Parts: sequence; C-alpha cells; structure tokens
Amino acid sequence: MILLIAYLAIFFALSNGSSDNSPDHTANVTDLNPPTNFRTVDMQLGELEFAWDSNLPAEIMTRFKVKYIYAAKYFDADQWEDEIRLSDPKYNHAFELHRGVSVRIKNVPTRGGKFKESNWTVMEIPPSGDPETLVSNFSCVVYNHTFMNCTWRPGKKVPNGTHYKMYYKQDNAAIKCTHYYTDLDGRQGCHIGENAIDDEENVLICVNGSNNSSSIKPFYAKFDPQEIERYNPPFNVKVSPNLTVTWEKPSGYAINDDCFAYQLQLTELDENNIEIFHVTKNTRYILINANSLKRFSVKVRTKLKGCKESKYWSDWSNEAFFEPKRTFNGRIFVLVLIIILVLAGLLLRIIFRRYKIIMFRPVPDPQKKFKELFEEHNGDFQKWLGCQIPISKYEDCCTVVIEESIRCEA
Ligand SMILES: *[C@@H]1O[C@H](CO)[C@@H](O)[C@H](O)[C@H]1NC(C)=O
Ligand SMILES: *[C@@H]1O[C@H](CO)[C@@H](O)[C@H](O)[C@H]1NC(C)=O
Ligand SMILES: *[C@@H]1O[C@H](CO)[C@@H](O)[C@H](O)[C@H]1NC(C)=O
Ligand SMILES: *[C@@H]1O[C@H](CO)[C@@H](O)[C@H](O)[C@H]1NC(C)=O
Ligand SMILES: *[C@@H]1O[C@H](CO)[C@@H](O)[C@H](O)[C@H]1NC(C)=O
Ligand SMILES: *[C@@H]1O[C@H](CO)[C@@H](O)[C@H](O)[C@H]1NC(C)=O
Ligand SMILES: *[C@@H]1O[C@H](CO)[C@@H](O)[C@H](O)[C@H]1NC(C)=O
Ligand SMILES: *[C@@H]1O[C@H](CO)[C@@H](O)[C@H](O)[C@H]1NC(C)=O
Repeated sequence: MILLIAYLAIFFALSNGSSDNSPDHTANVTDLNPPTNFRTVDMQLGELEFAWDSNLPAEIMTRFKVKYIYAAKYFDADQWEDEIRLSDPKYNHAFELHRGVSVRIKNVPTRGGKFKESNWTVMEIPPSGDPETLVSNFSCVVYNHTFMNCTWRPGKKVPNGTHYKMYYKQDNAAIKCTHYYTDLDGRQGCHIGENAIDDEENVLICVNGSNNSSSIKPFYAKFDPQEIERYNPPFNVKVSPNLTVTWEKPSGYAINDDCFAYQLQLTELDENNIEIFHVTKNTRYILINANSLKRFSVKVRTKLKGCKESKYWSDWSNEAFFEPKRTFNGRIFVLVLIIILVLAGLLLRIIFRRYKIIMFRPVPDPQKKFKELFEEHNGDFQKWLGCQIPISKYEDCCTVVIEESIRCEA
C-alpha cells in the first residue's frame, strides 16, 4: 500500500515536472521576421505578379526549411481565400481588380525548432476610377469552339457616346477587340472571331475606356471558357424501334465524355404532350414510359455538369421521329377488312349477274323495229305487212298472193 502511494507520488511528481518543462521550452520559441519588400508587377487585365524578400538569414532559411504562405481577399469579401504554400518568394494571380483586393504573405518554418511563423505582410490594391462609370451586367458566351461574344451596359455616369474598349488574353499578350456592336437590348458588345479562343485556357478580360471629361473605372473578368460555352447541339439523334434513343455529343472537345449532361424532349405529335428527361454521361436513353403506339419526336440538348457546370444549354438538336409499327391487332383489322371487301365484291357480282337483263337491257322501241311501217306506210299495218313478205317466198305457194301484192302497189 505504502509502495503504491509512493509510486503514485513519484508518477505525479514526474508528470508535473515534465509539464513544467514545456512552457520553458516554448518560451524560448520566437517569431520569425515577416517578409519585406512586398512588391507587384502589373501583367495587365487584372493579372499581377507578386514578389518579396524573406528578410531571414540564409542559414535560418535552410535550417528551418522556411516556406511562404500567401492569401488574398477582395474588399467586399469576408474571408481570406486562395491560401497557398509557396517555396519561392513569388506568385502570379489574376483578380477582378475593380473590387479592390488585399494580399498577404508570411514566413513559415516547416521544421520544428525555436521559431514559429512570422506575422503577415499585407499589400492593399484599391480600385481606381469612379464606380458609377464601371460597366454593369457583363457577360460572355463562347460558341462554336472558338468564337466569343461579350456584352455589357455602360456605367450610369459616363457621358453619352462614350465607347468602352475591351481587351482579352489567354496565354500571351493582351489583344484589343476590334469588332464592337450594340445588341437588340441596347447592350454594347464585342465579337471575337474564329480561332481566337482556346477552350482549355482561362480567359482574362478588361473593359475600360477613356474620356476627357471623366475617368472610367476599368472592369476585370476571369473565366474558364468551357464554363461559358454554348456547346454545339448533339447530332445523329435516332430512335430505334425498341424505343432506345441514341445521339452523339458535340465533336471536337478534349473534355471527358462523363462531363456532358443531356436533356431529351419527347413530343407526342398527336396530343402535343411534351416530356423532358435528364441523362448524364450516357449518349443513349431507353424510353420506358413511352407508348409505342403513338407517333412522337425526340430532340436533345447538352451542357457540362458534374466535372464543371457550364452556364448555358446548347441549342436543341435536329428532331428524330418515331412512327408506330403495324401491330398484331392492326394486321388482323386489315385482314378482316380485305375479307369483307372480297365478300362484298362477290355478292355484288352475283346480284349483278342475276338482274343483269332487267337492269341493262334497253326498253324496246317500236319506232326502231317497225321503222318502215311508220315512215313509209304511215302506220298502215296491212300495207307494211304486204311489203314485208318477200315475194320469192310465196312464188311456190300461190299466185293469189302475187295479185295481192300487185294490188298493194296500185
Ligand atoms: C532558452 O533555451 C536555452 C537552451 O536552448 C536556455 O539556456 C535558456 O535559458 C532559455 N531561455 C529562456 C528565456 O527560457
Ligand atoms: C507580430 O505582431 C504583433 C502584434 O501585431 C507584435 O507585437 C509582434 O512584435 C510582431 N512580431 C514581429 C516579429 O514583428
Ligand atoms: C443582365 O443581362 C441579362 C441577360 O444577359 C438579363 O437577363 C438581366 O436582366 C440583366 N440584368 C440587369 C441588372 O440589367
Ligand atoms: C462554326 O465554325 C466552323 C469553323 O470553325 C464554321 O465553318 C462554321 O460556319 C461555324 N458555324 C457557325 C454557326 O458560326
Ligand atoms: C455574336 O455576335 C455576332 C456579331 O454581332 C452575331 O452575329 C452572333 O449571332 C452572336 N452570337 C451569339 C451566340 O450571341
Ligand atoms: C467623351 O464624351 C463625349 C460626351 O461628353 C463624347 O462626345 C465623346 O465621344 C467621348 N469620347 C470618347 C473617347 O468616348
Ligand atoms: C485599358 O486597358 C489596356 C490593357 O490593360 C491598356 O493598354 C489601356 O491603356 C487601358 N486604357 C485606359 C484608357 O486605361
Ligand atoms: C435496341 O435497338 C438497338 C439498335 O436498334 C440496339 O443497339 C439496342 O441494344 C436495343 N436495346 C434493347 C434494350 O433491346
């Protein structure tokens, strides 16, 4: 018992002693100095290149494996974002500079020892120009692979007739838009033609302008072209007799097939009923609920979903039509119809034969049969009869008949 108490006492003494030691240890740890000479180079269209000096002796840098932590925050945001650990004292990033942005960096030892991370060194980049001159409602659409249209409304306070200028870039130098237009809603726009946009590279944009009477606040945008592309519609849409619809995704994209989502619209042509079906990943769909006895048409459209979400649906594809096949019942109906027609035909034929005389024999016309009686003998039957009897026929019989005929001519 005494032994156990002694043991516990020693244990507590030891644990207290060790916990006493740790504050001693941490008290010896000091902050690293923060980086200095934080500077930036304007790479245009909102892209900035930052550089700084660690402000630490090379010996400490290597011994404690010092790295840098970078973070940024727009003036209108609550949170610091894009926190990233860097080995080299430089970083490159594109911002929507019209919002104003703060950027900060610090030195961080990554090997334990007597130093802990430094305080932040902060740089503020305020926007320039009058906010009322900033364009509003800016949006872009990429279409047919490499074309792009961007539109915007002029700021409230710009003098009438001020034309904004748009610049864009991907990998290389900024390009000035040359084809401006005004759309049906009165927005100003810039059209960028064929082969101008690489859909695998982010696009940076700046819309600015100048006017002697007012300084225009530049607007900056950055986006992934695949997310604002209105894809060409799916093609080769087919409906097979087993009600399987198949199609092909728009061609020419190095995007994983699984990223494309589709909408099918089925229209029952006689009722004008419309149904929409959603399909992801697959380029086929079995119309389980469709009634194979009805005529319908199907069309398909697409957008990216899952891996990335694109903003716009494509146009609808061409329609594929489904005509119901002749069913078993239909065949019997046709067969019965043919039998009825054949029987009816036979019946008509019998009736026709039986009443043929009555029906089609012309009514005898005495005027025709007794033409001579009326025309030459004025209806005198006796005279007509006399002329009708051929003379030669009665020669052998008797002469009396000849006399009668002579009398007749007198
Ligand atoms: C700091 O640590 C050293 C040994 O590394 C020690 O001699 C010194 O007393 C400590 N100083 C403080 C203030 O704790
Ligand atoms: C870090 O900042 C705190 C207060 O913000 C200051 O007291 C301290 O001296 C700073 N440390 C260094 C190493 O500059
Ligand atoms: C911005 O433009 C879209 C069409 O691109 C329109 O639907 C929307 O109403 C516009 N918003 C403002 C505030 O003008
Ligand atoms: C789409 O682009 C191709 C060449 O890239 C062109 O031949 C075709 O006319 C374009 N279609 C539209 C609707 O602009
Ligand atoms: C883009 O702008 C051009 C030129 O104004 C126009 O012909 C074309 O229809 C527009 N395309 C889209 C998808 O907005
Ligand atoms: C500047 O504004 C005036 C109207 O105040 C306008 O006539 C002129 O075209 C504008 N200049 C430019 C370069 O947009
Ligand atoms: C607009 O931006 C472009 C690209 O950054 C620049 O070359 C041009 O000088 C700017 N124009 C004005 C009036 O600020
Ligand atoms: C439906 O028909 C198509 C070809 O016409 C065939 O590829 C598919 O396997 C069939 N599906 C079923 C479920 O029978």
